Amino acid sequence: MRYITIALAKGRLAKQTMGILARIGITCEEMEDKESRKLIFTNEEKGYRFFLAKANDVPTYVEYGAADIGIVGKDTIVEEGRKLYEVLDLNLGKCRMCVAGSASAREALESGRMIRVATKYPVIAKDYFYNKKHQTVEIIKLNGSIELAPIVGLADVIVDIVETGLTLKENGLEVLEEIMPLSARMVVNRVSMKMEQERIGALIEDMRSVIEAEKN
Ligand code: PRP
Repeated sequence: MRYITIALAKGRLAKQTMGILARIGITCEEMEDKESRKLIFTNEEKGYRFFLAKANDVPTYVEYGAADIGIVGKDTIVEEGRKLYEVLDLNLGKCRMCVAGSASAREALESGRMIRVATKYPVIAKDYFYNKKHQTVEIIKLNGSIELAPIVGLADVIVDIVETGLTLKENGLEVLEEIMPLSARMVVNRVSMKMEQERIGALIEDMRSVIEAEKN
């Protein structure tokens, strides 16, 4: 049997996804070993192979077929813009992509003036301001702790993920506009979807029932 390879975005999302898979009988004990430096894990019995990757790299592995399936946030899927099928919402890691800033930045944002936008998501920010709002802005790419940018005067506003809103609040910032809701998704390679239609289709349906059951 050919392995079905699943790329998981490292971290909490990977653990929660393995939790869903365990409930449909797909387990991977090897992966629990925290001391291990192994990057790839197999479940021989069911014919699955798993690896953990940086979230941004998951769509790349899937587009090229190095993984048949990927589990990653919608934010990363949109930002990377790879050619893949998005097949399932895992209802995990729910949050929102927002424009945020200090209350006083609202006026600058609404004036249509040239403003500076700091973000880890330049593609999403550009699409939102240029194509949806028809507003010309300067986008500054950062790699983390985006909330710092408006505080130290690097940017007027930020485009970032808001989950509880605590990070914004503790830094005197607020949500100014909502761009899109986010959650973890399953993506599938376009060729794998045809070649392994039966196994992947069954996996999607089994996972869907667990996700639906968790909702209720
Ligand atoms: C994300 C995001 C915000 C924070 C939002 O950062 O960029 O900073 O979580 O969560 P909250 O609304 O619950 O406070 P992450 O922890 O991924 O790290 P980063 O600073 O490297 O982006």
